[in-house]
Amino acid sequence: MPHSTTLQRPDDCLIVIFGASGDLTKRKLLPALYYLWDRGMTPENFGILGVARSKYDDDAFRKMIYEFNPDGYDDAKWAEFSKHVHYEASDSTNAEAWPDLTTRIKGLAQEHGTGTNIMFYLSMAPQFFEPIIQNVGASGLVIDGKRMVPLNKEDPTWQRIIIEKPFGKDPESAVQLNNTLGDVFWENSIYRIDHYLGKELVQNMLVLRFANTIFEPLWNREYIDHVQITASETVGVEGRGSYYDSPGGGAMRDMVQSHLLQVMSLVAMEPPVSMHAEDIRTEKIKVFKALRVPKEEDIPQIAVRGQYGPGAVKGEAVIGYREEDGVDPESQRDTFTAMQFNVDTWRWGGVPFYLRSGKAMAAKKTEIVIYFKPTPHILFRDQARNQKPNQIVISVQPNEGIRIRFEGKEPGVGMKMNEVVMDFDYIKQWEVDPPDGYATLLHDCMRGDQTLFKHRDEIESSWYACQPVLDYWEENPQPDLPNYAAGTWGPPASDLMMQRDGRYWRND
Ligand SMILES: NC(=O)c1ccc[n+]([C@@H]2O[C@H](COP(=O)([O-])OP(=O)(O)OC[C@H]3O[C@@H](n4cnc5c(N)ncnc54)[C@H](OP(=O)(O)O)[C@@H]3O)[C@@H](O)[C@H]2O)c1
Repeated sequence: MPHSTTLQRPDDCLIVIFGASGDLTKRKLLPALYYLWDRGMTPENFGILGVARSKYDDDAFRKMIYEFNPDGYDDAKWAEFSKHVHYEASDSTNAEAWPDLTTRIKGLAQEHGTGTNIMFYLSMAPQFFEPIIQNVGASGLVIDGKRMVPLNKEDPTWQRIIIEKPFGKDPESAVQLNNTLGDVFWENSIYRIDHYLGKELVQNMLVLRFANTIFEPLWNREYIDHVQITASETVGVEGRGSYYDSPGGGAMRDMVQSHLLQVMSLVAMEPPVSMHAEDIRTEKIKVFKALRVPKEEDIPQIAVRGQYGPGAVKGEAVIGYREEDGVDPESQRDTFTAMQFNVDTWRWGGVPFYLRSGKAMAAKKTEIVIYFKPTPHILFRDQARNQKPNQIVISVQPNEGIRIRFEGKEPGVGMKMNEVVMDFDYIKQWEVDPPDGYATLLHDCMRGDQTLFKHRDEIESSWYACQPVLDYWEENPQPDLPNYAAGTWGPPASDLMMQRDGRYWRND
């Protein structure tokens, strides 16, 4: 399936969301499905079934979704759209609940005329993923999967599963989850979602690199000095302390291993032979396979763990991480991680990729910065000290856009240089706000386009590159935590890591 932006209507299908009483469903999934429906991008025939234990019926569930954000829906349109929305109060982790659940799913498929196509969405905490996958497998609903082969080409049918993060908490659990998924679904029916890849500016990376001739010749170790990818938040853990402080939490697992390495793979991949999903994924997988697995002796130089203490963000006092509910007062959890990665390929030899993410930081931003090498011969010697490297800054959020920073001549007599910026501002250019990543990704899954979803090899390789650091941190408690005040750019050790390499973080 080629990755495309055309408004091709997906096949008819039933959408079954496990965990439908939760935060993600009301905040993202139902609004995204409404957005698609409003633009004629849902299937002609479709139904949505929310499943969770909370006691709603269809009407109460629709009301709960609507009342979460009434401004997000037009009343007349909602009345129409919500006819597609249903709810089943059921514990989908319990095999005994499944005969009734299966009957409901089949009934709704008949009511909405969706045939046997089903898109399952696992919007649950990770400990529930495997029991639900096993129950889906045992239900007999997956007829285009491993249990009911062969595929019937005359009557193409599909059952796909979208699985939320976190995908494992270490390499072993990720492999086990992949195996459980693989017992029920083909790899081409498994959609491991990463909402970062649904973001417009992340996808723009493919267009910037592969639809233009001016960038790609420079996109290698000859011209690029290093790459920085930052995802910083100003908020702390905000009531999610017990989850964040659990063995599966922390910035390395929650952000770097999952999202930022995915973003990095789009920066580092070779040009694919086509825009078909499998061709793009083939190139992404190669990046993950080339990720250097750090040696223990290198870890103190290439990875920094941070944890925020009390401070202030935009003038508002913020309590320290260890004071949050559900957090161990002596916690060693990383609320900030900075790490240097290396992609050991011909193209990227000697070019470090610095990734960092943190909570309670000075500003909220997600950006990719490509830093270029200095000119081989310095002509403007007397001003060389002020000369900044050329940069391509891809602002994923906020201020979505792509900015190219280079040196220009200041107006007037004499040859005075200064930094100038060529600015592609996404919102000014297109006069639209970027759609939410979930709308893009749900639409892609219904169309069978896996381009923006993670392959099992990507997940497993990214764990192999991160786990040595997590093990090292586990074995070597850090006495200086908390080591940055809320509202700053992270611990001094993160700046030192860059300074050792003669570089600095872009913090503006
Ligand atoms: N929220 C976000 O913005 C966000 C963003 C990115 C990724 N995610 C991921 O999306 C998934 C869902 O997140 P969420 O924030 O919606 O989670 P959530 O609010 O905690 O709720 C998920 C669902 O789990 C069900 N549940 C809880 N305990 C259960 C149990 N013992 N047995 C069966 N069901 C149980 C709840 O329903 P009942 O209690 O009614 O059964 C609820 O519907 C997670 O994997 C999360 O990492 C969330």
